[in-house]
Amino acid sequence: MMSSHSFKLTILTLLVGICLYVGAGTSADNHQATNETRPAPPVPTDLFGPSNARTEDGKLIPVEHFFPALRCLSCHQDTHTAWSESLHRNAAREPFYRESADILLRTRGIEFTRHCESCHTPIALFAGVLSKNSLRQQAPFTQLDDEGVTCSVCHSITQATVDGTGSFTIRRPALLAREDGTPIYGDFANDQILADIPAHKRAVMRPLLRSPEFCSTCHKVDAPPSLNGYKHIRGFSAYDEWQQSGASHESILPFYRREQRTDCRSCHMPKVESRNDRAAKEGKIASHPLAGRQHSRALILWPNRSGEGYRRFHKGGRARSGHLRAQA
Ligand code: HEC
Ligand code: HEC
Ligand code: HEC
Ligand code: HEC
Ligand code: HEC
Repeated sequence: MMSSHSFKLTILTLLVGICLYVGAGTSADNHQATNETRPAPPVPTDLFGPSNARTEDGKLIPVEHFFPALRCLSCHQDTHTAWSESLHRNAAREPFYRESADILLRTRGIEFTRHCESCHTPIALFAGVLSKNSLRQQAPFTQLDDEGVTCSVCHSITQATVDGTGSFTIRRPALLAREDGTPIYGDFANDQILADIPAHKRAVMRPLLRSPEFCSTCHKVDAPPSLNGYKHIRGFSAYDEWQQSGASHESILPFYRREQRTDCRSCHMPKVESRNDRAAKEGKIASHPLAGRQHSRALILWPNRSGEGYRRFHKGGRARSGHLRAQA
């Protein structure tokens, strides 16, 4: 599996690559002969490229149609606390991320940052504000950017493919849905939600979310020709690592094969004791800090978090075993 060092190198190479291609078009004394013959890709004309993310009806979803995480807090306190210290919650405001995306914005154009934001700030992508005509040309692009990958992003995803680079389909978030699954839009009062819990569950949960393919949409990345004007260049893929590991039961020659198939949630979202959450079952709730190797970053940058999820995940050094050994 990729070390965080080599991962950062990959990102750096990606960015340097992007800068080179942009530079090739503008600088006369550029020595990269190959780059000079490569035209910069055209500015994407569709709403979401160069990301694979889509909406169900192909239209934009205005930012007001997303619920802030605070809307869920009153009934899902444990989940909210855990999510608050996650890298998902911090995905858009991390300084390293912001600077990298801003370099792309400055050198190539705001439309190209849709690639990055589809995973780091999906709401900005779907709200359609990553365009030359938008009022704001610098982050934050919407009032919800700060929440990064927030509750109503993950919980409104309805389809996924394993292509990565944001290969999910999302629909307008809803708190309630009819029996046939059709969402009922609007910000219903807490009483109305509690009066029809099955309708709430239909709106926010589906089997897809419990599959590794759901996670793969953002945990597998490439720089496509529409971004670099060149060819597909693979980035990281936690999903492929998992698939090749002894945990997935999908690989023929894995080391350390586990007795039972173990998916992303088993390791990253274990059921933990619940203190206060309406969705707890028998006192347990699927935890949301989704800790990993880089998780400590969120705790260093925003130290007023408990760090409980991080400590639990890294307890006994089991985290060092990583994906391919997957002996946690
Ligand atoms: C008024 C209280 C209330 C609010 C507000 C609320 N929920 Fe819930 N939620 C519940 C209850 C109650 C359950 C179901 C518990 C059970 O399984 O019986 C639930 C269950 C869930 C589940 C699990 C569904 C399942 O099938 O296991 C998810 C996911 C969820 N809510 C997400 C959200 C999100 C996201 C928000 C904010 C946009 C939100 N909820 C806002 C009360 C609420
Ligand atoms: C497919 C989803 C996806 C896309 C597209 C994507 N990223 Fe990321 N990015 C991630 C994930 C997931 C991580 C965390 C991976 C890990 O910790 O192993 C990450 C981590 C990073 C980091 C490291 C954060 C740090 O503090 O070290 C930077 C920087 C970054 N991305 C920049 C970018 C830029 C710039 C783009 C666009 C050119 C981009 N990303 C596109 C999903 C994505
Ligand atoms: C990265 C995507 C992601 C984000 C962000 C996210 N969730 Fe979840 N959530 C999931 C997945 C996946 C599950 C299913 C876990 C399981 O069943 O093992 C889940 C399960 C839940 C459950 C049911 C827990 C249980 O034990 O059955 C609730 C409630 C919930 N989420 C609420 C929220 C709230 C509230 C937020 C924001 C504060 C949030 N989620 C953010 C992916 C996400
Ligand atoms: C058997 C347990 C296990 C399973 C299953 C698992 N992971 Fe991990 N994952 C880990 C451990 C342990 C680490 C920490 C590795 C380290 O610190 O070196 C990790 C690290 C990560 C990281 C941080 C980046 C990195 O490469 O270190 C991401 C992102 C991640 N996992 C996502 C996923 C996704 C997505 C899936 C499912 C497709 C998954 N994991 C399945 C145990 C697991
Ligand atoms: C909408 C996109 C999206 C989805 C869906 C998503 N993630 Fe993430 N995830 C991210 C981004 C972006 C980051 C990294 C943010 C950063 O470092 O700036 C991240 C970070 C993580 C990390 C922390 C990595 C580390 O190095 O510490 C783990 C673990 C993780 N995700 C697991 C999961 C699992 C498991 C699922 C499926 C249940 C999932 N994610 C679904 C976008 C997503």
